[in-house]
Amino acid sequence: MKSIQQSFSVSFNFPVYFVRDLFDPANSLFLEVIQKAYSTLPVRLYFVIDEGVYDSNPDLIKKIEFYIQTNNSILSLASPPFIIPGGEQVKNNPRHVDKILEDVERYGIDRHSYIIAIGGGAVLDLVGYAAAIAHRGVRHIRIPTTVLSQNDSGVGVKNGINAFGKKNFIGTFCPPYAVLNDFSFLKTLHERDWRAGISEAIKVSLIKDADFFEFLIENVDKLVKRDMEAMEYLIFRCAELHMQHIASKDPFETGSSRPLDFGHWAAHKLEQITSYSIRHGEAVAIGIAIDSTYSYLSDMITRQEWQCIIRLIKGLGFELNTPELFLHLEEFDNPMCIIRGLEEFREHLGGKLTIMLLQKIGQGVEVNHLDKHLILKSINILKKLDNSEYRDID
Ligand SMILES: NC(=O)c1ccc[n+]([C@@H]2O[C@H](COP(=O)([O-])OP(=O)(O)OC[C@H]3O[C@@H](n4cnc5c(N)ncnc54)[C@H](O)[C@@H]3O)[C@@H](O)[C@H]2O)c1
Ligand SMILES: [Zn+2]
Repeated sequence: MKSIQQSFSVSFNFPVYFVRDLFDPANSLFLEVIQKAYSTLPVRLYFVIDEGVYDSNPDLIKKIEFYIQTNNSILSLASPPFIIPGGEQVKNNPRHVDKILEDVERYGIDRHSYIIAIGGGAVLDLVGYAAAIAHRGVRHIRIPTTVLSQNDSGVGVKNGINAFGKKNFIGTFCPPYAVLNDFSFLKTLHERDWRAGISEAIKVSLIKDADFFEFLIENVDKLVKRDMEAMEYLIFRCAELHMQHIASKDPFETGSSRPLDFGHWAAHKLEQITSYSIRHGEAVAIGIAIDSTYSYLSDMITRQEWQCIIRLIKGLGFELNTPELFLHLEEFDNPMCIIRGLEEFREHLGGKLTIMLLQKIGQGVEVNHLDKHLILKSINILKKLDNSEYRDID
């Protein structure tokens, strides 16, 4: 038998910038980012903009056009920006990916051009996927506009759309060329979207950084009142922890473990059984509450630690449960039962079921088995907590 062993490695690196007023004519960051890599001038740019961002920033396209016009020896618009619906439903419709691919073909976008997505996590996931498969990968710049996309989804390496009723069933691991986190976009967020992304910060603080968790506790009032300074620190630290983790472990998730997905086995299932009427971040808050309660009931964290977590989640205005959590609750194989989320979470990666729980605040621990009846008990406790004062609970 003959064989040849192939082996090479490719290193990835990309910057994440934190900025305000990215398309202000006096702000040179965007220009500098593009100038770092070009072969012919002017560089062709194709923009996809989240409709929610477009509606709340009616001058945005004019600003972008003016910025590009002012720098027209270096930048050029390959086509008018494509305005795409925002929110999870966009990931349920593969037609939007086709439309981007058609535009790539029609406007001659090539691997030296840039596909630039401005929007929430759902739009970024979809555009990132389209950019990854067009010509086997066109340079892609993300401009995240929600808390969640700036502190979590937009700074990672995954993209995707939903299929067969399952989240992110189709997608790739494909690092972006650059991420430009423009805090100015956060001002127009609806209250739900301002709050939703905070859950990813709670998540990463609980599994990695007790000081960051303390910061969240101390800044609940400021965050609720939409204090920009507190939010900017939250986004920076959350993004930093997220990026450090990706670089240090298994960025393309080849093993069975998804340690950054604390609270997510329930969250993804909850999004599905609520027909995506609940935001990803809101579902994550409930997922964190379930897995923290489970950690407490299993004597892994103290009652005091558990109370701090629940108090934080409630203090920020998140719900601890939704009616859908109780659908077919004891029929573990029913597709509408939340517990099915465990197996679907395992299936997404394959291998052994591996779920992150808490050992203490600031430190996660992976387990390979969860007791379904203890999950039920956790969910029922959360229902009681949502209806009364958390202090009343044993
Ligand atoms: N790729 C990853 O690693 C990863 C990680 C976590 C989450 N996600 C995905 O991210 C998605 C959730 O993202 P999200 O929380 O950003 O919500 P979202 O993208 O669903 O957006 C929520 C709403 O906010 C609107 N919007 C966006 N920016 C706005 C702004 N600046 N002003 C006003 N309205 C604005 C959108 O139009 C939409 O209606 C989910 O699909 C989730 O699966 C991906
Ligand atoms: Zn998430």
